[in-house]
Amino acid sequence: MAGVGRGHGERRREAMDELEWRAVTRQNVHELRAFNAGVFPVRFAESLYQRVLDGCAARPASAQLVSHARRVVGALCCCAEEKGERAPRLYVAVLGVAAAYRGRGIGGMLLSRAVELAEQLGAESMYLHVQQDNDEAMDFYTKRGFHVAKTIPNYYARLEPSAAYELQRSACLVTSPIIN
Ligand SMILES: CC(C)(COP(=O)(O)OP(=O)(O)OC[C@H]1O[C@@H](n2cnc3c(N)ncnc32)[C@H](O)[C@@H]1OP(=O)(O)O)[C@@H](O)C(=O)NCCC(=O)NCCS
Repeated sequence: MAGVGRGHGERRREAMDELEWRAVTRQNVHELRAFNAGVFPVRFAESLYQRVLDGCAARPASAQLVSHARRVVGALCCCAEEKGERAPRLYVAVLGVAAAYRGRGIGGMLLSRAVELAEQLGAESMYLHVQQDNDEAMDFYTKRGFHVAKTIPNYYARLEPSAAYELQRSACLVTSPIIN
């Protein structure tokens, strides 16, 4: 992987060239669980994994694992939330990149896939939650068109701070944000 002295652009190209993308299935969902446990400070409920598997069986693009050299380095899980006759909202339940692989454009690629999915579904908006002190993620999402829709106190029962920002953006932005 990235050696000392390699430029940022070179590392980004390297990451882009060698990534393997797979839909999440019953056979590999354990890889998603292990990845999430290493990247996120919260443990996702089994009901979420079931929802992800159901969604992915119908639409493989909704949950993806990204690997480099056989190691999972990124994951994306989206859930379409239908609201009667209205256009669905897309919930981005998981979007994460392994710490050693950040800053190479993988997060941007994952978000681009979520945006494509939202467009395919005809979703009106997409949203996600970020822990209140997660400056890196806040910077990433606000640069890409998200804004704080609300603050939810005690969203993360076992974390400090426990509050989350709910970030939202239109699924299809006319003025395109910076998306890799
Ligand atoms: C938020 C997150 C997904 C971004 O992933 P990423 O692969 O680093 O994203 P990118 O490389 O596309 O963009 C990161 C930005 O930080 C910059 N950056 C440079 N070096 C970096 C580094 N070592 N680490 C992180 N970002 C770096 C990038 O240049 C880029 O800048 P830009 O926004 O001006 O384009 C990642 O930090 C992450 O997984 N965080 C933990 C999970 C999380 O908190 N998720 C939020 C709740 S869903």
